[in-house]
Amino acid sequence: MFMKTTLAATTAALTIMGTASFAGPQAEVLHYWTSGGEAKSVAVLQKEFADNGGTWTDMPVAGGGGDAAMTALRARVLSGNAPTAVQLKGPAIQEWYEEGVLADISSVAEANGWADVLPANIASHMKCEGTWCAAPVNVHRVDWIWASADILKANGIALPTTWDEFNAAADKLQAAGITPLAHGGQSWQDATVFEAVALGIGGADFYKKAFVELDDATLTSDTMVAVFDQMRKMRGYVDPNFSGRDWNLATAMVMNGEAAFQIMGDWAKGEFMAAGKVPGEDFLCISTPGDGFLYNVDSFAMFDVDGADKKAGQDLLAKLVVGKTFQKTFNLNKGSIPARTDVDLADFDSCAHLSASDMAASNDNGSLLPSYAHGMALRGAQSGAITDVVTAHFNSDMSSADAVAMLSKAIKNSM
Ligand code: GAL
Repeated sequence: MFMKTTLAATTAALTIMGTASFAGPQAEVLHYWTSGGEAKSVAVLQKEFADNGGTWTDMPVAGGGGDAAMTALRARVLSGNAPTAVQLKGPAIQEWYEEGVLADISSVAEANGWADVLPANIASHMKCEGTWCAAPVNVHRVDWIWASADILKANGIALPTTWDEFNAAADKLQAAGITPLAHGGQSWQDATVFEAVALGIGGADFYKKAFVELDDATLTSDTMVAVFDQMRKMRGYVDPNFSGRDWNLATAMVMNGEAAFQIMGDWAKGEFMAAGKVPGEDFLCISTPGDGFLYNVDSFAMFDVDGADKKAGQDLLAKLVVGKTFQKTFNLNKGSIPARTDVDLADFDSCAHLSASDMAASNDNGSLLPSYAHGMALRGAQSGAITDVVTAHFNSDMSSADAVAMLSKAIKNSM
């Protein structure tokens, strides 16, 4: 009797433990999508994950651009307690792969045919030594101008197509007592404006030589001096309270008619959409002056964690993120366009269609370029070195020549 009872109890205990150790797909997800439009977008993924039996533990880390999120990630990994999945992109994926802490999601990628539906340059960012190590969410364009339709109409101003037109419009608005440029004085936002100016003034080849290849002759060229000259003018177009402002509060200034323009990636469109604003009526979009397209592809990397439930959560999350349904619904909210090439854009707005057509044209003429400011072009040490100089110049009376000299030196010291 004793043996039978013990055996039955043991079997029951093991069954319960077995069940308890796999309570369905689990994922603790570190991300920095905390603004109105961002939160609405990530809620799409949370819902789809739950609808497929997953349990999502949210780990949002506020701070546009993700610097704070990456600091939190480093702390978690160093303490041996990595999140299940992390919003991670560009060369940072390779840096974490080289630390040996990323999970291989090739089985999910191959089972779902990612290679057949992702553009080659996007797929390349998601691969680590031939294996799939991240799942792409979208394609954000960085080099956008967002404008208040009412302010432009009331002041007889057309959307600028050159930097001279931008400056003339800004001067006219400033003379009328209107803040030309809504801006948040945070380093990543200064860098966002800087790279759009650099692309516009220098062109695609200049941008690529400077911020992808780190060519010193280009970094110290007269063209780079001209870029910093324009940045000095941009500094003159912001309001006195710009310092430290979050990017979505700058977007709100344009939305509320407190400023005419914002130069920001199209996650700003997510804010307009979340507020019920209509593109082409309430706000206008145009690429910043100059040819080219600065892309910023958000993605999720899965970290090596223990537990069948977490591994199941990673596989489910990766599958959903690149799934056709999610790629449409998420990006309609986020302001980006799908990473997948087979999603019908009929329900997307005019700004998204412009983004998609410009991305295709830029891909064809070699001006589809990785955003340095948003971590797509360089590793952290180098991108940080550039941004430190840009924000130092923006927040001082540093001359363009001194900024160029400092840029060259900072990059050399970061190597
Ligand atoms: C970017 C990110 C976007 C958006 C933006 C503002 O780096 O790729 O998805 O979150 O920062 O936080």
